[in-house]
Amino acid sequence: MYNEEEMGRLEEEIKECRRCELWKTRTNPVAGEGSLTAKVMFVGEAPGYYEDLKGRPFVGKAGKILDELLGSVGLERSEVYIANVLKCRPPGNRNPTTIEIKACTPYLDAQMEIIEPMVIATLGNFSLGYIFDKFGLKSDKISKIHGKVFKVSTIAGVKKIVPLYHPAVATYNPGMKEVLVEDFKALARCF
Ligand code: URA
Repeated sequence: MYNEEEMGRLEEEIKECRRCELWKTRTNPVAGEGSLTAKVMFVGEAPGYYEDLKGRPFVGKAGKILDELLGSVGLERSEVYIANVLKCRPPGNRNPTTIEIKACTPYLDAQMEIIEPMVIATLGNFSLGYIFDKFGLKSDKISKIHGKVFKVSTIAGVKKIVPLYHPAVATYNPGMKEVLVEDFKALARCF
């Protein structure tokens, strides 16, 4: 109950947010969604076209792939939590800037504090960069570390960080779907 109130307050704050310029061009902010008691939290990059329209994370092409990957290890969206580094869509889906990441990530930090996931799966390079830095891990090329499990000690206990390719890679390189499927198996063995 307490967690729901906390997350509700955070979502309201995100709706009113003007910490960077992206509020000017967004249709809807995308706070995140899923179970507040999730063992695993997925962290993507930023809302795209459909996410911005609907106010929900991963509801476009990449979202369809994410749903399939979750299904391949017997997980449903409602059991996990899905968030992004940025809560608002960068115009034309350009990369997030350092300023935007700095302004927005206190929301992601707060979400992680509320949910306290045992496992954090990063989706794509911006998420990898932010999460590895936050937990004091040395980052490397995603091609080297995807699907590996990194353990970190935090005041909330040991957490596992699993870097994954962004599901969108499978839309322009179908061969990557198999890599993602294997990495999701490794992820599912974590909890
Ligand atoms: N890509 C992301 O990184 N996040 C979304 O929510 C959708 C697409």
